[in-house]
Amino acid sequence: MKVATVVGARPQFIKCAPLSLQIRRRHREFLIHTGQHYDPELSRIFFDQLGIPRPDTDLGVGSGPHGDQTARMLWRLEEVLVREKPDAVVVFGDTNSTLAGSLAAAKLHIPVAHVEAGLRSFNRRMPEEINRVLTDRLSALLFCPTETAVRNLAAEGIVDGVHNTGDVMVDALRQHAARAERTSTILRQLDLEPEGYYLATVHRADNTDRRDHLKALLDALERLDRPVIFPVHPRTQQAMKDHGLQPARRSPLKLIDPVGYPDMLMLEKNARKILTDSGGMQKEAFLLKVPCITLRRETEWPETLQDGWNILAGTDPRAISEAVQAPRPKAPPADPFGDGRAAGRMAELLETL
Ligand code: UD1
Ligand code: UDP
Repeated sequence: MKVATVVGARPQFIKCAPLSLQIRRRHREFLIHTGQHYDPELSRIFFDQLGIPRPDTDLGVGSGPHGDQTARMLWRLEEVLVREKPDAVVVFGDTNSTLAGSLAAAKLHIPVAHVEAGLRSFNRRMPEEINRVLTDRLSALLFCPTETAVRNLAAEGIVDGVHNTGDVMVDALRQHAARAERTSTILRQLDLEPEGYYLATVHRADNTDRRDHLKALLDALERLDRPVIFPVHPRTQQAMKDHGLQPARRSPLKLIDPVGYPDMLMLEKNARKILTDSGGMQKEAFLLKVPCITLRRETEWPETLQDGWNILAGTDPRAISEAVQAPRPKAPPADPFGDGRAAGRMAELLETL
């Protein structure tokens, strides 16, 4: 069968890498890049480093307000899908590219398969939550990474086409961890010792768009007792500029450009703790057994909270500081995210459409 995959943002390239490989073993793939992320360090680097095939088309939509960006994707996706006539459309996660892909396909009566179905933060102020809920409604195949996700869908009356495949990010991590160890030089470049630094990322709209939230977060990071390596997402870079926020000269906060996936895995694996509002990084911290502090008040990955491996601290500097000082959890985390073979299952399940 002919399968169109729709990607557009950084975490989708990472999720697409193992699945694209498996899809191409069984089907014909037509890979669509919406162009939501376009800076080389947010897009091209992942194609180059993870061996993702070149997109068959790049819609080049770029940035913009939600309605504007999603509408331009929808418009261009419809044209491509009408022309290419795929038998199925695969979408990933919860971005505007996910929603545009699922909506364009469903209106053309092309079955949609959703990778990372069933996640819920139960916070409708997050654009991602709206994208998830709508995409799950529109999907014929729902690839859930966990049992919690299966239950979330059942609570909304969605049971047909639901499969717990395991999490495709486990596949990605397992496929690239060993090579990252061999090839990444990031620790040397930044002069870092294992457990001698914290790793932080921030990019959620709620944390970047409000000056008070971003200031509280940066203040909290600047007060930590070790260097804080902070690869800055372009949204956050722009927000820091707009809000007039920059770390002090002798601050432990070290701003760097976004890094590629192998470098990120090495930074994560060797960090003393990870502070983040990223969904993917909460999970990678858990899988790599590095304690995580989530700079949000809720998570769509509640499994990571077991035994204190992930602590929800929001933007409150006191809560962040307490979480950073919390002792390392003793029990190793139980593994609810699958066996690293999710992509193969997904490619096989596409045949049921
Ligand atoms: C998007 C997703 C978010 C995901 C994140 C992963 C939505 C609603 N949000 O957030 O769920 O966690 O990607 O990183 O889809 N920009 C650049 N260069 C780029 C891309 C973006 O400079 O290549 C800047 C632009 O100023 C843009 C801003 O970042 O306005 C936000 O980009 P956008 O894609 O709208 O959302 P993200 O914050 O990246
Ligand atoms: N990531 C990366 N380089 C960075 C920041 C993140 O490779 O500079 C990876 C990270 O390891 C994870 C994914 O990107 O696999 C998470 O993406 P992001 O935080 O942008 O989105 P989210 O997961 O929150 O949707």
